[in-house]
Amino acid sequence: MKFVGLISLLLVGLYMVTNWLFINVLPHRYIFDKDELMTMVNQTLERNPDGNSTAILTDLGASLHDRYGKFINELNFDEWVFNNAGGAMGSMFVLHASVTEYLIFFGTAVGTEGHTGVHYADDHFMMLTKYQTAHRAGDLEPEVYYPGSSHHLKRGIAKQYHMPGGAWALELAQGWIPAMLPFGFLDTLSSTMDIETLWKTVKISAVNMVRNAIWGKI
Ligand SMILES: *[C@@H]1O[C@H](CO)[C@@H](O)[C@H](O)[C@H]1NC(C)=O
Ligand SMILES: *[C@@H]1O[C@H](CO)[C@@H](O)[C@H](O)[C@H]1NC(C)=O
Repeated sequence: MKFVGLISLLLVGLYMVTNWLFINVLPHRYIFDKDELMTMVNQTLERNPDGNSTAILTDLGASLHDRYGKFINELNFDEWVFNNAGGAMGSMFVLHASVTEYLIFFGTAVGTEGHTGVHYADDHFMMLTKYQTAHRAGDLEPEVYYPGSSHHLKRGIAKQYHMPGGAWALELAQGWIPAMLPFGFLDTLSSTMDIETLWKTVKISAVNMVRNAIWGKI
């Protein structure tokens, strides 16, 4: 019984410390503001009312690079990688990755569905084309997110999500990013065995995190 009490106390302590860090420490390291990004998304959508994914991503990628300079990788279509996680599959381009934030283009040309994962980060999924649906266990009607709206997945929350073919989004995650990486990698080892994708993803994440840290962006 003493042992159980001690473990419970440790878990409560750990919860309080991580909660405190999440609210009081990590946000001081963020350079991205979800509302400002959403405004940039809206402006991009207004400039590209035809919903052409290539034009929208190219336009937004350039605006982000103008705004955040070296902290944003210039969009190119050679450095996209597949992402298998939570049973869903899509492809992504890493615009920014550091210890406390990542900003990516994510989506799928053919459609996908799966588990969001449970993260020690707040996730803002800003739709650019088509739509995303999501639901929490017990919800009988889906949440639906169209271009111009953002799906905020709060830290610690799990949902099932779906995107049809041609749905692309700008995704901002803010929190302790290293804790999210196993979710992004482990499907490779347990299922796809796509070692090339794993290697590229690890390399892109490591290079970006180290380079940004050297530039003072943790
Ligand atoms: C973006 O546009 C949508 C309407 O398309 C609007 O509801 C939303 O408030 C806008 N967001 C920002 C941050 O401007
Ligand atoms: C979409 O935009 C790209 C780049 O601006 C252009 O090359 C392509 O032709 C456009 N596609 C359609 C269907 O308009």
